[in-house]
Amino acid sequence: MQRIDNQYYIQGIRVEDIAQQFGTPLYVYDADHILGQINRFRQGFSTVNLQIKYACKALTNINIMKLMLSQGVGLDTVSLSEMRMGLEVGFAPQDIVFTPNCVGIEELIEAADLGVRINIENLSNLEKFAQHYGSQIPVCIRLNPHIATQNNADKVDWWHNQSKFGISLDQMKDVKAIAQQYSLPINGIHIHSSSVIMTPEVFLKGAETVFEIALGFENLEFIDFGGGIKVNVGDGKEVIDIVELGQQLDPVFQAFCQKYGRTLELWFEPGRFLVGNAGTLLTECKVRKRNGGTEFVGVDSGLNHLIRPMMYDAYHEIVNVSNPEGAPQKYTVVGNICEIDNLGKDRQLPEVREGDIIALKSAGAYGYSMASTYNSRFRPAEVLVINGEARLIRKRDTYEDFMRNQIDVTLENSITQ
Ligand SMILES: Cc1ncc(COP(=O)(O)O)c(C=O)c1O
Repeated sequence: MQRIDNQYYIQGIRVEDIAQQFGTPLYVYDADHILGQINRFRQGFSTVNLQIKYACKALTNINIMKLMLSQGVGLDTVSLSEMRMGLEVGFAPQDIVFTPNCVGIEELIEAADLGVRINIENLSNLEKFAQHYGSQIPVCIRLNPHIATQNNADKVDWWHNQSKFGISLDQMKDVKAIAQQYSLPINGIHIHSSSVIMTPEVFLKGAETVFEIALGFENLEFIDFGGGIKVNVGDGKEVIDIVELGQQLDPVFQAFCQKYGRTLELWFEPGRFLVGNAGTLLTECKVRKRNGGTEFVGVDSGLNHLIRPMMYDAYHEIVNVSNPEGAPQKYTVVGNICEIDNLGKDRQLPEVREGDIIALKSAGAYGYSMASTYNSRFRPAEVLVINGEARLIRKRDTYEDFMRNQIDVTLENSITQ
């Protein structure tokens, strides 16, 4: 979203016109931003065999998947449905990786039978998989590298050794024993970096741990560093510069490959990096009210559409699209859900009037995909702005959607009065 004079635009289209045409609440994605992020990633890792697997849990719309496919980006999936969507839109099975956690072995078998790449993150499934396939299908293993990051953000810090993710470093001997017993080829080592890894230094430390371990496996084809690359959301926090990271990691990776004796692929699974800042949630201010000393802006959305502020204390920049020149005031922007439902507390915004379009920025990742129908409110529609045109890519829910799977069993004579 770009401000020119007193108007906000996406690819030259007035944001207010998009809101008017499709209604609010509305998720709007800018395809150009996504393409730019893909290019930036590749620019960073220009001297290695980089494979980007888009973590489609971030924004699971088939049009976004197709955009990734058109750019030669692969897919990281965490459920059979994500995987099926990927196959349906045309990804080759070998360009899809299945990286679920704590799932039953039957899901891994179904995925393996469809030919996608398999990533296993616990010994129990590793052994069952090995028993089932023996040497037929190689697997990647997900490590838990035991690195505590700078902040104690428990909900997003996945490297530390008490998180549920990955196979612990001290279980590597068990991994090797299973692989040996069943002749199971281990073709990849994976860590998912988590969004709290903010500096190249912490990242490189994790990478070195992975390279050390990788030397103990002889059939590797790739090292997968997962996702977790933050983007600048305007909260003043440090973010990793992907080009700088690439420039620092490339030579370290090349040195590792030399030591390993073969050139491996370097994988990443970015979600938010590719789509986070491409998305904006457009809402309308329905109610202005004051309680105590607080000026509230009540919008036609809430934690049912964007749960990150309430769940992770995530910061989303808020913009008054309709009145950018209004006198600045402090507001708390809230949703209409019967919960506290803050979207942004104590934000300085140009005067907000009922009817103004209020935009929540950086909402492309984990926005719609974590949306719910709580309070029986419809999930928003989604629009993709592509080639200078705003296209509807998902309809708003309807009342019929709510009723579709409900089964009325309260037959007259079975109700106890
Ligand atoms: C295994 C894995 N890979 C990639 C991602 C994408 O992370 P991000 O959107 O922070 O890049 C996630 C996110 O949870 C993940 O669990």
